[in-house]
Order: sequence, then C-alpha cells, then structure tokens
Amino acid sequence: PRVALLAGGLSHERDVSMRSGRRVAEALRSAGVEVSVHDVDADLLPALADLQPDLVWPVLHGASGEDGSVRDIVQLSGLRLLGTGPRASRVAWSKPIAKTVAARAGLETPEFVTLPQTLFRELGASAVLRMIVARLGLPVVVKPSRGGSALGVSLVREADDLPRAMVECFSYSDTALVERAVTGTELAASVVDLGEGPVALPPVEIVADGPYDYDARYNPGRVEYFAPARLRPEQVEAVGAAAVTAHRSLGLMGLSRTDLILDEDGVVHFLEVNVAPGMTETSLFPQAAEAAGYNLGTLYRSLVAASLA
Ligand code: DAL
Ligand code: MG
Repeated sequence: PRVALLAGGLSHERDVSMRSGRRVAEALRSAGVEVSVHDVDADLLPALADLQPDLVWPVLHGASGEDGSVRDIVQLSGLRLLGTGPRASRVAWSKPIAKTVAARAGLETPEFVTLPQTLFRELGASAVLRMIVARLGLPVVVKPSRGGSALGVSLVREADDLPRAMVECFSYSDTALVERAVTGTELAASVVDLGEGPVALPPVEIVADGPYDYDARYNPGRVEYFAPARLRPEQVEAVGAAAVTAHRSLGLMGLSRTDLILDEDGVVHFLEVNVAPGMTETSLFPQAAEAAGYNLGTLYRSLVAASLA
C-alpha cells in the first residue's frame, strides 16, 4: 500500500510532529511500506489528489492535527484515514470533555474546573484565585484545556503563583483547565488495535527530577523512563484496563496513549488521552511498543494493514 504521512502543520507542536513523522516514515520504510511525508499547508490537497494514497496517517500533534480539522478534510477528500476519526478526535482533544467522558465510563479523574479567559478578565485574578482554592485546594495543575506536550502547563503549590500560571496557560488556549494535583506514579498507557479490538501495551513510567515539561520531554537524559513500568501485575492490569476503557469510551481507533497517575492507594486517575501520541526518539508510544517486543516497523505496518482491512 501507499501511505501518505502528514507531519508538521502550524501548531505549537510542529517540531515534535516533524520528528515523529520522520521516525514513523523510517520505520515503515524499513518494513517495506511505500510512504511519502507531507506538511500541512495549501499544497496538501492537490498533492493528495495527485498521489491518491491508499491511506493517510496524520502524525500531527496539537491543533488541526488532533482537533479533527485535518482529519475532516482528509475524509471529505474521500481518502482513508489511519486512526481516530474527526469527531472523536475533537472530543478527545478537549481535556475537560475527555475527562467527563472518561468519568462517565467509570474512570477516576482529578476534580477540576474550567475557566475561560474572559471570565478571568471580568472577575479579576484574586476573585478567581479564591474560587479555585476554595473549590480544589492546593496544589493544582493549570493546563490549557486543549494542548499538548505540556506547553502552558504549571503545577501551582501556592496561591500567589496562580495568576502567573493562568497567564502562561492563556497563551496557548482561551480556556484553562485547573485540576487538583494528584501525587503518585506518572504513567503513560498506549493502546493499539490491530483489527481485533484495543489492546494495552506495557505502561511506561515517567520519573523526572523537575517538571515533565517540553524540554524534559524532547531532550534525552532529562527524564528516566521505565518501560515497562515498575508495577505489580495487578497494577499493570488496572492501568491497561483504564487505557482501554478510555480508548473505547472516547471512540478512538487504531492507536492512542492515555496519561494516568497511579496513587498510593492503587487508584488509577485518568489525566488525558492522545489521538496522535508522540513518536519521537524520546516519546512514550514507541517505548511501550518496544517493551511489548514489537519491532516498530512491523507494528506500524500492521496498523496500516488493519486500517485497510
Ligand atoms: N503531544 C505529544 C506529541 C504527546 O502527547 O506525545
Ligand atoms: Mg497530550
């Protein structure tokens, strides 16, 4: 089959997507799959119309890549898509909506409030701060309600640091998600569906001395990863089951990665889900795949085959 990978785009995560795209392309080629890589710009539709690929794989992170818009265009062009469709992508991309869906499916997720920037401006920082602290206590995590790679994310331990965190967050999204900070083991649980239903790959454990921020994610050596995570079998089971529940309840397809925290009492807390998980050298999905014993080329070729079946 001929596969067109989409990588780049205009989101804040453009560079990450270029790296992910390059790595997926190399792996697919090593497995004998014909693949072309396309940036997302005005030339995309003519290029795809010319090429008529059998499958389009959006390795696009951030807005337009994960919010469903490019996926919509691909489907409207009559082409087949690898992975989650446009509507489910849009739902998963919104952290508050995804948390609500996950909670309805029975998963624990940290208590949260959402705060539009307009309200923050209207009420003023100190009133908002009081509301948040009264409702959630401290510490809290402030995140753009839509975003990736931890851009605009801050852990806030003291009320005084909250306004700065909100401003930082609003440079990435017009709505902030503020959630109660849960302590425990930080885990990423990837899921693949090779045609027989979603299956969890071994969870990967993230140990960072500082925040697991953009720099820590993409500069080797800043974070220690354990793939597989240092968990007991029943914990692996619980984490994998949560990721599969998230994948199913949000209507995801092909592949996904769910980010979770396992607390001291063994409770798994859903944080968010990624329809286009990072595929770079330091990313979690490829580490999970390798921990499961997959060769990346073979796995990606199987994902392609399953999407075409
Ligand atoms: N948003 C980045 C690419 C990730 O989740 O891996
Ligand atoms: Mg994410």
